[in-house]
Parts: sequence; C-alpha cells; structure tokens
Amino acid sequence: MENFYDRVAKKFGGYAFGSSKTKAKKEYPSQDPEEVFKTKLVDLAGKDKKALDIGCGDGKFAFEIAANFGHIQGIDNSVELIKIALTKKNTLEVDNVDFKIEDASTISFSDGSFDIAFCRRGPGFYKEYYRVLKNAGYYLEIGIGEQDCVDVKKMFGRGQNYGEWDSPRLLKDKDQFVRIGFKVIFAEDFIYNEYYDSIEALNDFLQGVPIFEDFDSEKDKSNLESYCKRFEGKKGILLPRHRVVYVVQK
Ligand SMILES: C[S@@+](CC[C@H](N)C(=O)[O-])C[C@H]1O[C@@H](n2cnc3c(N)ncnc32)[C@H](O)[C@@H]1O
Repeated sequence: MENFYDRVAKKFGGYAFGSSKTKAKKEYPSQDPEEVFKTKLVDLAGKDKKALDIGCGDGKFAFEIAANFGHIQGIDNSVELIKIALTKKNTLEVDNVDFKIEDASTISFSDGSFDIAFCRRGPGFYKEYYRVLKNAGYYLEIGIGEQDCVDVKKMFGRGQNYGEWDSPRLLKDKDQFVRIGFKVIFAEDFIYNEYYDSIEALNDFLQGVPIFEDFDSEKDKSNLESYCKRFEGKKGILLPRHRVVYVVQK
C-alpha cells in the first residue's frame, strides 16, 4: 500500500493539516502545546547552530523557523513530501534549509552532527537521535499523546495507537530517554479540545491526518455520523486532543 503521507501529499499538495487547513476552534485549559514547543526550540536556537528536523514533511515548519538557525536539515521518508519541500525551497529562495529522503531509524549523518534535533509529530527513534547529536545537544519533540481522539477511535473500532489509552506515553518515553543517556529537561502532557463546525469539516480533516490511515468518507459515513451525533454541542463537534512536549539533553 502507498505510504500514507505520499497519498496525502498528492491529494492536498503538501501536509495540509500540519498547519490545520480546517479551522477547528481550539480551547486550551492552559497553553497551546505548539506554542510551547516552538518557544522552547527558538530559545535554544542560534545562528551558529545546526539543526535536524526529523519527519519534516513538506518543510513548512522548517521554513517558518529557518531564520533562527545557521542551518536546518530536514529528513522525511515520504518521497512526495520531500519533493514538495524542495520545490518550496526554490520558490522561497531560503538558503539555509535542505531536505533529504531518509528513514529516521537509520539517519545517514555521522555521530555528533547536530546541535539540535527536533520532531513535530514524527517517529521516535530516540537512540538514533542521541547518536547524531553533539554532546550537550538538545532533542525537542511535540508528539501525539495516548488520550488523543480516543472516543472517535472507539466509535470506529480502530485508529492510530488503538487501545493504548491506558498506557501513558510520557512515562514510557521519559524512562526511555533516561536509559539512552538523555537528561530530561522538560516533559509535559497537554490536553485540549477542538471543535468542528460541521460533519463535513471533520470529514475533511480526517482525510488528511493519520488518525485513521484508511479513512474512507463513504465506508466510514455511518461511524462518523454516530460520532457527530454523540459529540455535537453548542461549541461544535468535540474532538479531544492530547500532545506531549519534550526537551531532553545529551
Ligand atoms: C504528522 S506528520 C508531521 C510533518 C511535519 N513535521 C509537520 O509538523 O507538519 C509526520 C511526518 O513524519 C514522517 N515520517 C513518519 N515515519 C518516518 C520515518 N520512519 N522516517 C522519516 N520520516 C517519517 C511522515 O512522512 C510525515 O511527514
């Protein structure tokens, strides 16, 4: 079967929902985890720093923060997303960002190549990330927590990390970071709500994200209708979200 992100890239011309094309309303009890992640990354950045963007997708985020770094190397195993990132690089004429098709489990760069490595909702091959960091280098991540979209997955009877909601990701990852040799500087859960203003908006969103890699608007119509009926309120159709944000140091 074709890589999910290659399919999304061809359909939407990029990783559309990296920037959330569907404008869901978001309600944060405390802070927006994306903002927390970005602020922490920019605080550690510098014009003398080389960074690795792991699972960079179409490069949107790398371009957004490029001015803060000496150089950013994006890697991703989606051929189609890297094609789009390289086209964007030419159009935007950003010199200090490069992109390469690579699997994050076996990065081609030598040990100690980067001051900072970061990952936005990409894969977690932490031992490999430790290897490519310089001593005292930082790894930062915003990832999907185990409580993300649990009710919609239960309603569909499948989905990303299905059934893992009783196993806290943060604890497992912290333990793994320490075993590898990282010092955990920051590790927090962020739970918040998203509200969709119609079933069509939620249907569009689900086509472009890996919550159900096999989402099919026709086949999943009745599942989605049942979910919307049950979770529709005054603010819209509720989709509870869960993110984890990490900063660890080699
Ligand atoms: C949820 S998307 C996030 C994309 C981008 N970081 C962003 O924030 O918009 C996850 C990305 O990780 C990439 N990815 C997944 N597994 C990978 C692997 N083993 N090696 C490299 N990239 C991978 C996917 O192709 C995809 O682009």
